[in-house]
Amino acid sequence: MKDGILVLDFGSQYTHLIKARLSDLGVYSFIVPADLPYNQFKNKKQDFILKGIILSGGACSIYDNKIKFDKKWVELKLPVLGICYGHQLLASLFNAEIKESKPEYGKEEMNIIVESNLLKGVSKKSIIWMSHRDTVITLPENFIQTACTSNSGNTVIENNKLHLYGIQFHPEVSHTESGMQILKNFTLKICKIISVEKWTPELFIKETTKKYKEIVKNERIVFGLSGGVDSMTMATLLRKIFNKDKLVAIYIDSGFMPDETVHEVLNFCELQDISLVIHNASDRFFSELKGVINPTEKGKIIGKIFIEEFEGIAKKEKAKFFAQGTIWSDVIESGVTKFSSQIKPHHNVGGLPKKMNFELIEPLRELFKDKVRELATCFKLPENIVNKKVFPGPGFAIRIDGEVNPEKVSLVRKCTKIIEDIIYNSKINSKVWMAFAILINVNSLGVKGDQRIENQYAIVVRVVESKNSMTVNFSQNVYPYLEEISSRIVKETEIGRVVYDITNKPPATIEWQ
Ligand code: XMP
Repeated sequence: MKDGILVLDFGSQYTHLIKARLSDLGVYSFIVPADLPYNQFKNKKQDFILKGIILSGGACSIYDNKIKFDKKWVELKLPVLGICYGHQLLASLFNAEIKESKPEYGKEEMNIIVESNLLKGVSKKSIIWMSHRDTVITLPENFIQTACTSNSGNTVIENNKLHLYGIQFHPEVSHTESGMQILKNFTLKICKIISVEKWTPELFIKETTKKYKEIVKNERIVFGLSGGVDSMTMATLLRKIFNKDKLVAIYIDSGFMPDETVHEVLNFCELQDISLVIHNASDRFFSELKGVINPTEKGKIIGKIFIEEFEGIAKKEKAKFFAQGTIWSDVIESGVTKFSSQIKPHHNVGGLPKKMNFELIEPLRELFKDKVRELATCFKLPENIVNKKVFPGPGFAIRIDGEVNPEKVSLVRKCTKIIEDIIYNSKINSKVWMAFAILINVNSLGVKGDQRIENQYAIVVRVVESKNSMTVNFSQNVYPYLEEISSRIVKETEIGRVVYDITNKPPATIEWQ
């Protein structure tokens, strides 16, 4: 039997990333809700030997007492690593004082105070990413402090005798420089796990093929294609598993996509020998979004229309299954795990109606974007698909402040095209995760040809760098290009005011809605 780590999930956006990072190390892990009593776990047959426990981050304060935690988990004499909320919980169990203090969101510098097993191989000073308001103010009994930041003392605390470790930051996010080293130290050195099979695209394809052959049998599948790398990779996977006559791709033209998407989808289906239905539903999208200004409501309406249109086509095609290229970042933001908070209902997750007239399959649901790109590479998809920049399914509709109408879509589409032209064709392209425009309703004054202009809207330029969209920094590499972006937007469109968004994620999200 393999060794494994149990991850108790207190609802962090990053819990699944812990599993993904451990899997990169070849370490098996299993996620359970944080209120699982130890005896319930012990009494059920497990397919792994428990070697250590990770307490994840979470959205609540430990003083809310919302999550019932069984103290037995930290009394098993097994190594325990508390992350963020888990760190605070662990400290409080050993009588530390936890208090709302100076919040830390995003980038901080960690200073190692004394050498430690957990931090072995980590530079004395390194960049870490935080997302917390509560802080461990006093040291828990029999713990030592091994690292701090300029804002908080107990950034890393350890009780080496009991193998208990707490870290305030997130080692699982790619922006934390030594995150992998810390997870490696904990699992391979402290928990003494013998590394097993690492995640590979080949293994994923093998397991997924077996799973869906059993589920789908001889039925037909329709699936949504949006033009992005997720849905195209999923389509390629399905086409590898099933014959052409069992599959139909659907591209729903919502009216909110870039002009070139429909051609890209057509070319892709031709290349992969997949039947394609192109369905124009833009009138319905515009008419049902008329007067709607609340972003959550917009997301839900968009999700509902997509599904209803898909259902109509599935019925005509006599398909029992509907497949979509949802990935884990869409899922987690929609707040689907027991203790996670809903950041926004992604149209393909939180926007789905409860009852649907087909069975949903989501082969990529557990993956993050970096793994999807690895899969696409393994399928030898063209480079322009593998590295295609992310574009949200609801398109320009979620980049418009207030009501969505054709005039605003056209404006934001033109501005996005200008930004993409400049950035995606520049030297910094490979550093950039996404570059786009957001249209906001802000009045401002201008002067053009000596005339007073009253601008009704402004354009926000958002250029971000990331590995998987879970943590993001605004691009500083973009500065030499901002002037060209601004001057082209004011010359080529009716926009008279352009600003640059300088917030990271966390605390901001990438999109504004
Ligand atoms: P945020 O804004 O949440 O974005 O930091 C993370 C990634 O998800 C995309 N995104 C969406 N994609 N439906 C989607 O299909 C949505 O409702 C949605 N909202 C955000 C976003 O573009 C980014 O790549």
